[in-house]
Amino acid sequence: MIKIAVLVSGSGSNLQALIDANLSGQIVGVISNKPEAFALQRAEKAGIATAVIEHKQYPTREAFDDVMHQQLLAWDVDLVILAGFMRILSAQFVKNWEGKMINIHPSLLPNYKGMHTHQRVLKTGDVFHGCTVHYVTAELDAGQALAQGVLKVNVHDDAGSLANRVHVLEHVIYPQVAEWICNGTIQHTENGVLYRGQPMQDAVQFCKF
Ligand code: GRF
Repeated sequence: MIKIAVLVSGSGSNLQALIDANLSGQIVGVISNKPEAFALQRAEKAGIATAVIEHKQYPTREAFDDVMHQQLLAWDVDLVILAGFMRILSAQFVKNWEGKMINIHPSLLPNYKGMHTHQRVLKTGDVFHGCTVHYVTAELDAGQALAQGVLKVNVHDDAGSLANRVHVLEHVIYPQVAEWICNGTIQHTENGVLYRGQPMQDAVQFCKF
């Protein structure tokens, strides 16, 4: 059974969706860089081990990441899921977990990497918006996309309503991708990412219009 760690910084609604999905892998631990993150309470309620590793207590990004790395090794983790983890990871950490670490980003990547995606979508006047689950690579929000949730922007949407609507999609596609990795539907190999045994070209799309 695949052992999963989830890295969080905040509310942890995606963590909750992963817990509620009863994955065929096991969430063995949750790491937060913030002691006040509500996600920690969600983990404790579900009987999952937690670790608070405060980035402020370490002199460098690398030192902080190394402590996280040691914790992940101690839990014997196979898959790292970033779920609202608000720290940029060092190159070494990303390399250590390459092919074993996924993230969810609130935009249809490659559009709108980085922050404030909902505001930027509204400013541009895009018709479609959504979220993307992708493997994490050294370049920010640039690893292979595995799934996308797509919605249509309504005339009455503001950044808050878009954030809420995107969250609903996140809670569908993130557990789905996690399960696909747990049960081997998605595999990261030396020859690239396989989906159902075939090279994965495009992200699987989930649409909600
Ligand atoms: C989500 O919007 C996700 O796309 C982004 O961080 C947010 C986390 O929300 N990476 P939550 O803590 O899971 O509620």
